[in-house]
Amino acid sequence: MGGSALMATGLIIGSGEVSLPGGFERIGGLDTPYGPASDGFFKGQVRGHPLVVSYRHGEPRRFAPHAINYRANLWLLKTLGAERLIAVYAVGGIDGALRPGDLAAPHQIIDYTWGREHTFDATGAAHVDFTRPYDDELNSALAAAARQAGVDLVGGGVYGATQGPRLESAAEIDRLDRDGCTVVGMTGMPEAGLARELGLPMASLCIVVNAAAGRGDDPGRIDMAGFERAAERGFAGVMRLLEALLV
Ligand code: HPA
Repeated sequence: MGGSALMATGLIIGSGEVSLPGGFERIGGLDTPYGPASDGFFKGQVRGHPLVVSYRHGEPRRFAPHAINYRANLWLLKTLGAERLIAVYAVGGIDGALRPGDLAAPHQIIDYTWGREHTFDATGAAHVDFTRPYDDELNSALAAAARQAGVDLVGGGVYGATQGPRLESAAEIDRLDRDGCTVVGMTGMPEAGLARELGLPMASLCIVVNAAAGRGDDPGRIDMAGFERAAERGFAGVMRLLEALLV
């Protein structure tokens, strides 16, 4: 085997939620057999551990959740050497115990999206198992890293993946709640399914940036003003957690 003996980790992030530490270098050449990936791939190291970073919406942001070329992004991450993936999501909290700025690692997902290119498997012959959509070992490692870094991480829960880009109605959130969803976001699928098809272990790290529609202190509307602050706070925790994970 050539290259680094260390397993490279792929970090998928949204935009606005993050600034990368210094020393990360933008990568060009984003064409794939599935079309161009979102412009915004970087490589660098955290504590000597190789990290490939993909801004799923592009950097600067240009693709709405339903318009992201998820297949190209995932394919390129694998081609660039990522052997496991940490996917960071900004989400709304459905479970009332989750507050803006909190971090959660859901272990399950329900897909409410539609019309997205969601498979590499043209014939459907593979029918990949998706019983446990995220990787148990990686989730355990994340939980241990969070403890070590002193970062509060809520383990478990269910991510409801909605189509967007509009936010949900209160009734839609009630339905997701009845289905068992604890957080809601727009980009969790088809990302997780495609990672499974490529054989890439993935964990989902969710930053709660608002109470979901009809929930929280102001159930009459969602106030976007707090999004960025909560995302920044949450992402600081994500980076501390990664530093503990990537040893
Ligand atoms: N709903 C869907 N996606 C989101 C939300 C939300 O409330 N907040 C951040 N991403």
